[in-house]
Amino acid sequence: MIVSGSQSQVLAARLADATGERLARVEYERFPDGELKVRVPDPPTDRAVVVAATTSSDAHVELLQLQDALREAGVEEIVTVLPYMGYGRQDRVFEAGEPVSARAMARAISTGTDRVILVNPHEPAVSDFFDVPATTVDAAGRLADPLPEDLTDPVFVSPDEGAIDIADTVSSAYGRGAVDYFEKTRHSSTEVEIQPRDAGVDGRDVVLTDDIIATGSTMSEAVAALDDLGAARVFVTCVHPMLASNAVLKLSAAGVDAIYGSDTLERAVSEVSAAPAIADAL
Ligand code: R5P
Repeated sequence: MIVSGSQSQVLAARLADATGERLARVEYERFPDGELKVRVPDPPTDRAVVVAATTSSDAHVELLQLQDALREAGVEEIVTVLPYMGYGRQDRVFEAGEPVSARAMARAISTGTDRVILVNPHEPAVSDFFDVPATTVDAAGRLADPLPEDLTDPVFVSPDEGAIDIADTVSSAYGRGAVDYFEKTRHSSTEVEIQPRDAGVDGRDVVLTDDIIATGSTMSEAVAALDDLGAARVFVTCVHPMLASNAVLKLSAAGVDAIYGSDTLERAVSEVSAAPAIADAL
């Protein structure tokens, strides 16, 4: 049975379709003092797959409650799917005195599950923080699906070298195109130039790819740079379309032609589903 957190209902329903498993009814309640309570009125007895993007502190609490409710009901095996792992980017101490938040979250989540599946974590090594077996799945293969078929001499570019695998995956899925990443050249303390490392983009369509668009700063800077370099159309795609605050406005103002993402985070741009990749891992 697929058991959904409140932030992952579309993906959970698609995962139920993809696996042929039943989708549980879940009730989400908030008390007047702000505390949360979930209820799974008709839990399974054998295996429950909890699907919950931990996009906020509330979503984390909700996940722990779902796991506990299922354990309490005597479910034999609990698999936890984290379509998006919140706090995953604080995976080390950057300044003295800070926590490794990803580890703290992973330990808490591990207490209520037998196994964890993570979709495109920012750093795959966060899977080592869990006290139960944790595997990662790659949902980037589907990101090519909504792209126009008529891309002109396309270049798939990641904003940094670390995300080039995603550019490579999307390019392979699309079936043609060059792959590159942005390089920063510092001319002075205030002047930094960013441009694709090898590929010329003049007159070509460009697909910018990344694991996550959070504030949209990285991508809007890249879109503006591509415009200056004479790129034709610029599309932006990512696995996790967080699109916090005014990210969409920033990207639009920079001149992006379209924004695409998957349903690991449910947004208006979530045109691609991570369900098939998760179903394979189940
Ligand atoms: C960085 O390493 C990540 O891959 C993303 O590029 C980054 O987290 C995006 O953040 P933002 O949208 O806030 O620039």
